[in-house]
Amino acid sequence: MVRIAVTRRIDPDARSVLENIGDVTMWDSDLPPDPEQLAAMLADSDAALTLLTDRIDGPLLDRCPNLKVVSNLAVGYDNIDVPACTARNVAACTTPNVLTQTTAELAFTLLLAVARQIIPAADAARNGDWKTWYPFRFLGRDVAGLTLGIIGLGRIGLAMAKMGLAFGLNVIYTGGQSNNEFREVSLDELLQTADIVSLHVPATPATHHLIGRRELAIMKPDAMLINTARGPVVDTDALVAALHEGRLFGVGLDVTDPEPLPADHPLYTFERVTILPHIASASEATRLQMSDLAAKNIVAVLEGSEPPHCLNPEVLADA
Ligand code: DGY
Repeated sequence: MVRIAVTRRIDPDARSVLENIGDVTMWDSDLPPDPEQLAAMLADSDAALTLLTDRIDGPLLDRCPNLKVVSNLAVGYDNIDVPACTARNVAACTTPNVLTQTTAELAFTLLLAVARQIIPAADAARNGDWKTWYPFRFLGRDVAGLTLGIIGLGRIGLAMAKMGLAFGLNVIYTGGQSNNEFREVSLDELLQTADIVSLHVPATPATHHLIGRRELAIMKPDAMLINTARGPVVDTDALVAALHEGRLFGVGLDVTDPEPLPADHPLYTFERVTILPHIASASEATRLQMSDLAAKNIVAVLEGSEPPHCLNPEVLADA
C-alpha cells in the first residue's frame, strides 16, 4: 500500500480520494508541522499533499527516498524547490484555475475597502465611535474613472482587470500575457500613472521587492497599493517608510512579509492599511475544489496517468 502524507487537515472528500489508493497520514493540527516534523512525516511517504507553509527543498527531499509526488494546495509554489524535485524525479503539482475568480474577487474587495475606508469606518461603528452623521469623516475615493494598474496579467490579474473595467476604471498593465483589451505599459509608466496598483505576480527572485523604495517614490502620492500575490514582492520596510512620509492614500494586503505578520508590526499602526491573513482563495467552494485537485494530482501520479497540473512533467515522462 502506498503511503500518503497530508500536512494539514483537509476536507473529508479529498481525504477519501486519497484513502482509496493508499494509507493516509494527516497532520492533525491547525498549525503546520515544523521542518523536523515535516521531514519525519514525509520520510517514508510515496506522496505528500503540502501547503504553502511547508518548505520542500533538496535537503528535505534527500530524507524522503520514496517520494514520487508533492502536490501543493495552492497555485503559488514558492515554497517548493521545483528543480530540486525534478533532480530527484519527484513530480511537483499545484491547484491553479479553480481559485482564479475567488482570488480576484478578494483583490477587488480590498481595492474597494481601501478606497472607501471600509475597515476604519466599520471599526468606528463597532467601537462606539459613531456619534452622528458625519459630513466629512471617512471620506473615500470614487473608483470609477481612476486608473487601475495591474502588475502581472496572468489568470488572476486578468480577472481583476475585467472587474476594474466593469467598475468604470481605466485599466493598464505590465507583464503577463498580452491582451488587446487593455493598454500595456512599462513598469515605471504604470507606477507613475496608476491610481491603484494591484500585484499579481508569483514570488520569484525577479519579483523579490519589485515594489521598493524607488517604486513607491514614483507612485502618485495618493495612490493605493493592493497585494494579493506574495508578501516579498513588496519591500515591507520601504512601505512602512513611505507610509511614515504620508505617501499613499491606502494599502490593502492579503499577503505580507513576514507571514504571519506579528501583531506588534508597525504596518498595523496605519489606519489606512488593511491587512488580511492570506485569505484570497478562502471561499468554501474554492478550498474544496483546491483540495480535490490536490488529491487528484497525487492519485494520477501514483497511478501513472497525467496529473491535472504538474510543474515538471518531464519527471512523469521518465517514470
Ligand atoms: C495560492 O494558491 O497560491 C494562494 O496564495 C493561496 O490560495
